[in-house]
Amino acid sequence: MAERPYTVLSCGMSIDGYLDSADNQRLLLSNEADLDRVDAVRASCDAIMVGAATVRNDNPRLLVRAASRRDDRVARGLPPSPTKVTVTYHAKLEAGASFFTSGDGTKLVYCASETVAEARDRLGSVATVVDGGQPVTMARLSEDLYARGVRRLMVEGGGIVHTQFLTAGLADELHLVVAPLFVGDSRAPRFVGDGRFPWSSDRRAVLAEVRPIDDVVLLRYALSPRFGSD
Ligand SMILES: NC(=O)c1ccc[n+]([C@@H]2O[C@H](COP(=O)([O-])OP(=O)(O)OC[C@H]3O[C@@H](n4cnc5c(N)ncnc54)[C@H](OP(=O)(O)O)[C@@H]3O)[C@@H](O)[C@H]2O)c1
Repeated sequence: MAERPYTVLSCGMSIDGYLDSADNQRLLLSNEADLDRVDAVRASCDAIMVGAATVRNDNPRLLVRAASRRDDRVARGLPPSPTKVTVTYHAKLEAGASFFTSGDGTKLVYCASETVAEARDRLGSVATVVDGGQPVTMARLSEDLYARGVRRLMVEGGGIVHTQFLTAGLADELHLVVAPLFVGDSRAPRFVGDGRFPWSSDRRAVLAEVRPIDDVVLLRYALSPRFGSD
């Protein structure tokens, strides 16, 4: 098997397992203390990845927020924030999205072969558009990231992307934050969709840590033998 980055999946969800509300209003799940923890994890990674729907819906900047953490990275010879990564089939991303306009670091867009020309037209001036194959698989994407020097990858969602990393057995660690609220609307995006996951009643995942953070709780799962080795 080709080499791939140590991969941390990070996600906040409601008690009933949703990532967001069903309407256009972004649902605040995390709290300040947890956002700071997420910032520290970001700062420890070489790349951060989100799916194209998250780029469109949330318009995230995906930068390290704390100046001290950015300074620390620079002192270690790294860019202030990790490389940003997204994946798309339809290539319907706006070049003006914060993903592309904020920060001077590398931005990678993995696109299906069929639409890669369209993606280059639209995004070629603001990002490196990579032909991710047909279809784009997270295994191939992970191997390509490794070849580009990414040794530690943080995947911040959404559910479609998390599902692929988990079902393909490509996640080493899961940081699952449960927020004290219900969404109660099955039209909302869930943490994961349908699929064959490597963990079941016969093969339970290893719960490595439980940490209350103000009103949310972090559940940290070890998902591979590589857990803790990075
Ligand atoms: N609570 C949290 O921690 C958290 C974190 C992140 C996001 N979210 C929420 O989650 C929601 C979005 O999640 P989501 O599950 O709907 O979508 P997502 O995982 O963010 O993105 C899915 C999109 O990514 C592209 N994609 C994924 N896999 C692909 C593949 N193998 N090949 C080609 N393209 C691929 C496709 O983009 P195209 O449609 O462009 O082809 C697909 O529609 C938003 O509401 C966001 O607010 C919550």
